[in-house]
Amino acid sequence: MTVRKRVGVLISGRGSNLASLIQASRDPGYPAEIVLVLSNKADAYGLVRAKEAGIATRVISHKGFPSREEFDAVITGALKEARVDLVCNAGFMRLHSAAFVREWSGRQLNIHPSLLPAFRGLRPQARALEAGVRVSGATVHFVSEEMDAGPIIAQGAVPVLADDTEDALAARILAMEHRLYPLALKLVASGAAWQENGRVEFASSHLSASLWPQK
Ligand code: GRF
Repeated sequence: MTVRKRVGVLISGRGSNLASLIQASRDPGYPAEIVLVLSNKADAYGLVRAKEAGIATRVISHKGFPSREEFDAVITGALKEARVDLVCNAGFMRLHSAAFVREWSGRQLNIHPSLLPAFRGLRPQARALEAGVRVSGATVHFVSEEMDAGPIIAQGAVPVLADDTEDALAARILAMEHRLYPLALKLVASGAAWQENGRVEFASSHLSASLWPQK
């Protein structure tokens, strides 16, 4: 068996995407294992999920650091101490410094609940409803210096229904996120997809990096 990539997951809250990654990595054939869950908030429920799964956790609050750079340097130190190969942001609510993004370039993934490049930033589900789009979804991308703008690895689409509320749409997208993030991490951890010259390259043109509601 090939060596599994060591993954550090950054969270700030409930950690349902973390749970989907933990579930996927229970399969011994999955090419990644989660070796550290790091939260900037001590009360993040994702920490409970990690502990229940027997995964090491760290809490490093951003408060008390004089700058974003200094906070990020400590995060990088913790990830390196855990000998992390890949970083997965899963509801981590802090922007990264340019130095952090450079350090982990091509090795850091993020999930966002919209079909990027539409609706970057906060409350994308509410803004999708306001815009009247008929399809939305989730995107996993490599992290770049611009928020929610890095090279796209995988996307999953869901319908927007006529009577949707923000919560209903968010729940439908979240269910898609839980399918999409394990797929995207698998592509990267196995070497089937990688970042090159600001884009994502695939080892095979037949690889599917998109999910649709009927699948
Ligand atoms: C998800 O919708 C994710 O796309 C966004 O933040 C939310 C985190 O949810 N970046 P959870 O903590 O994984 O449940």
